[in-house]
Amino acid sequence: MPTLLALETSCDESAAAVVRDQRVLASAVASQVEEHARWGGVVPEIASRRHVEALPGLIEQVMAEAGVAYGQLDAIAATAAPGLVGALLVGSVTGRTLARLHGKPFLGVHHLEGHLCSVQLGDPLPPGPYLVLLVSGGHTEMIRVDGPGRYTRLARSRDDAAGEAFDKVARLLELGYPGGPAIQAAAADGDPRRFALPKGRVSLPEGGFHPYDFSFSGLKTAVLRLVTQLKAEHQAGGAPFLLADVAASFEQVVADVLVERTTRCARDQGLETLVMVGGVAANQRLRQRLEQRCAELGLQWRLAPLAYCTDNAAMVGVAAEQRLLAGGVSEIRLAVAPRLPLEQAPILYAAPAPF
Ligand code: KG4
Ligand code: ZN
Repeated sequence: MPTLLALETSCDESAAAVVRDQRVLASAVASQVEEHARWGGVVPEIASRRHVEALPGLIEQVMAEAGVAYGQLDAIAATAAPGLVGALLVGSVTGRTLARLHGKPFLGVHHLEGHLCSVQLGDPLPPGPYLVLLVSGGHTEMIRVDGPGRYTRLARSRDDAAGEAFDKVARLLELGYPGGPAIQAAAADGDPRRFALPKGRVSLPEGGFHPYDFSFSGLKTAVLRLVTQLKAEHQAGGAPFLLADVAASFEQVVADVLVERTTRCARDQGLETLVMVGGVAANQRLRQRLEQRCAELGLQWRLAPLAYCTDNAAMVGVAAEQRLLAGGVSEIRLAVAPRLPLEQAPILYAAPAPF
């Protein structure tokens, strides 16, 4: 059973974890959100600098908590793609330096493969292929998983990712960054059926609509129009602004559209298990909607544990462990790639290193 130290620095969370046999021995995350909040989004140069400051302490902390010495590690892993290039470099250089220093194999990990593996930190998955709804700040995709490392993307968002929609709508509701948790809090007492918002369909050149692909940019515009109208009414006649209802209605339409299209895809594909991972998978309304709909349709479901939905290093460790067990090791000179489709994750273990 291999023991791994894993690092994650692809965006605005610095994270380290020690994992063994798909279980977390220790995991720590230092979020930078407060720092980025005043700019309304992630500032790449600030992110890199904060990773440099936070990572050594996090590594020390998880090694101590796990009670593991460097000599006992079987490998060291770090997210190598995709993400902010400067941020990725901090984790990668740190991981490769430690690997060289202690004579351990190094594995570069694909961030989305990390998210896919986060579900393995919860209840065991039923056997057989399954459909994953991956919803994060940068990606909204349906991925069919036929086994470790065997992925087929079946759908995606054509414009904004679901998390991006949460962040943009939160900004126009003046709720701050990151938008997901802020909207969830604002929506808690709201009426989710108060306002009808569009479900954003993707037209096909031959007519009709794509059955699974998403589009969230129109939804954001619709919320903007609604907010402008409500504000004008509020100022003119003192009508209440109904912020909670707007937030709840937005959350509801996102949950409805994600769950509707994903369950349809699962049934069309004959897949009996649905999995949800990524930062937006932390959303309570979405989790409830997915569970409820799967139960109605007789589908099985597994949600990434709440603690491992948003970026963390434990999921990176699980992905690395899976690759290591299949004989995968990266070259020590493997650098980072800001963009890399999930299907190309195997090249991280190729020789010579692709970048
Ligand atoms: O997976 P993640 O941590 O980073 C990426 O790989 O992108 O996802 C971050 C995204 C952000 O857009 C954030 O607003 C969203 O996940 N998010 C949520 C919630 N918590 C985080 N969205 C909706 N509801 C939440 N509770
Ligand atoms: Zn992520």
